[in-house]
Amino acid sequence: EPRPLVDGFRRAITYLRLSVTDRCDLRCTYCMPERMTFLPRREVLSLEELYELACGFIERGVTKIRITGGEPLVRRDIVHLFEMLGRRLGHGLEELTLTTNGTQLAQHAEALAKAGVRRVNVSLDTLERARFEALTRRDALPQVLEGIAAAREAGLKVKLNAVALKGVNEDELPDLIEWAHGQGHDVTLIEVMPLGDVEEERLDQYLPLSDVRARLEQRWTLAESDHATGGPARYVDVAETGGRLGLITPHTGNFCAGCNRLRVTATGQLYPCLGGAERVDLRAALRSERPEEELAAALERAMAIKPEKHHFRMDERGAKPHLPRHMSLTGG
Ligand code: GTP
Ligand code: 5AD
Ligand code: SF4
Repeated sequence: EPRPLVDGFRRAITYLRLSVTDRCDLRCTYCMPERMTFLPRREVLSLEELYELACGFIERGVTKIRITGGEPLVRRDIVHLFEMLGRRLGHGLEELTLTTNGTQLAQHAEALAKAGVRRVNVSLDTLERARFEALTRRDALPQVLEGIAAAREAGLKVKLNAVALKGVNEDELPDLIEWAHGQGHDVTLIEVMPLGDVEEERLDQYLPLSDVRARLEQRWTLAESDHATGGPARYVDVAETGGRLGLITPHTGNFCAGCNRLRVTATGQLYPCLGGAERVDLRAALRSERPEEELAAALERAMAIKPEKHHFRMDERGAKPHLPRHMSLTGG
């Protein structure tokens, strides 16, 4: 029987965010610079190792696994990992899902659904092609929209993620929400977080969702929803559109008290908190003489160092702390 993972603040860990690559075919300005240095390929875990690692977490009580990147669907043969993990659904694992930028979703939606994926989060910050290109530095909006349509046709529930960006998609958020709800998709808005060096000034990008919400409430009726996905979003129902809106508010509404998450990079580095620099090397444990014991010891360490909350700050004192690693390393 599983020995649950419980941290020093008595929070049970049931949600693993597993990054399978730090590479991406887009270059979103809030996520990475145009000239990005990626992990050397030889450092990255094989699909078999990722599977073994994931199974170790399932044995310890993880019921939800989200595959992330970078962009997970740019990794060769990634569907194979979904197929392997899909066989654990109903055997410890309750949800297998992914977060994707959508560019390769049209090719993979069917296979993902067949593997047991039921729900997919697709990053989409704007519906205007020129804006999309400016924001992601690639002209890929039509591809992403095809991907979203293909996911729906494959029977996948789609949730769109939009990072709320001052002066970038600020004026478009109501349209984006209305469009998504019209298509039957949930949307989640996200406050930008200060990870990694990017060309832009973080504070110039930051838009507090408390402000966005106030503006949306002049237009629509928002009602607190008890919908929960086991992630950081809090949801509201929008009466007029009949859709659901998620809000991820690291700065204007801390959600850390309910944290149930860990994240592991494609090289097997476990970050107990997105807002912290501390990590634990699972790859060394996995490749040691006694992987089971070493993995257990590494997870013990992770539980001991997981902080109570992040210390991100976005105010007159600046965008802090400065974490040198990019969001793409951990997939958020
Ligand atoms: P659901 O299963 O739909 O709830 O997904 P999710 O919101 O957990 O995952 P997704 O990959 O869509 O993440 C949306 C945003 O939430 C991203 O910007 C992540 O970086 C951010 N996020 C996810 N988990 C955490 C967390 O533990 N702390 C912080 N600060 N941000 C997080
Ligand atoms: N702050 C907040 N969200 C970010 N994402 C990427 N970089 C950042 C950042 N600096 C989002 C992506 C994707 C999710 C995994 O994280 O848009 O939807
Ligand atoms: Fe958990 Fe850290 Fe995210 Fe807070 S910031 S929810 S403690 S991972």
